[in-house]
Amino acid sequence: MENSSKIILDLCGGTGSWSKPYADAGYDVRVITLPEIDVRLYEPPATVYGILAAPPCKEFSKANWRKNRHQRNYKEGMECVEACLKIIWQVQKNKAPLIFWALENPEGYLYLFLGYPYYKFQPWQFGEIGMLAAKRTALWGYFNKPKPTVKNRPLQFVPYVKEKTNDKWYGASSMKRAITPPGFAKAFFEANR
Ligand SMILES: C[S@@+](CC[C@H](N)C(=O)[O-])C[C@H]1O[C@@H](n2cnc3c(N)ncnc32)[C@H](O)[C@@H]1O
Repeated sequence: MENSSKIILDLCGGTGSWSKPYADAGYDVRVITLPEIDVRLYEPPATVYGILAAPPCKEFSKANWRKNRHQRNYKEGMECVEACLKIIWQVQKNKAPLIFWALENPEGYLYLFLGYPYYKFQPWQFGEIGMLAAKRTALWGYFNKPKPTVKNRPLQFVPYVKEKTNDKWYGASSMKRAITPPGFAKAFFEANR
């Protein structure tokens, strides 16, 4: 099967960082993300090769430390998660050969809805350094587990650079922190191509 006929859906894909290695390899990548496309209204094609999903984490992430698990708006938070799962199920119901799917979120309260994740990683395990190195990330789905390229967390001085952001806790904006680490994306692609 030619790469160009393998459809990859990158749901809530933002910058498309997770699916970029697939796009670079000539797959038919469709980034379904706001402001262009609302995942809640999206109708998938009948046959899809792989689905990546990274729904917003605001209502689940522990980085949002001001709110405990009883103060979250799960109804709002689950809207995109449900839409992503609905798309995955819709493709499965077509008996299409969906080779893999993965749904990503920072480690937080999504396990209350999806159960415990199948795979977890930290960006530093895939070569990320500096302020974006630490972010416990969980994945649900079925896929081949990407192999970390770094075994031990590098001991390094991380300069605190103040940015114009409310996320002063981490020193990097939440938008920057939401971008899938390119090293992880590459390793995921290599394990699931
Ligand atoms: C957690 S971020 C994922 C970022 C992505 N991993 C990246 O590398 O850029 C979630 C993304 O979903 C988008 N989003 C939020 N609500 C959406 C919706 N209803 N439909 C589609 N995309 C949505 C946001 O704009 C944001 O870019």
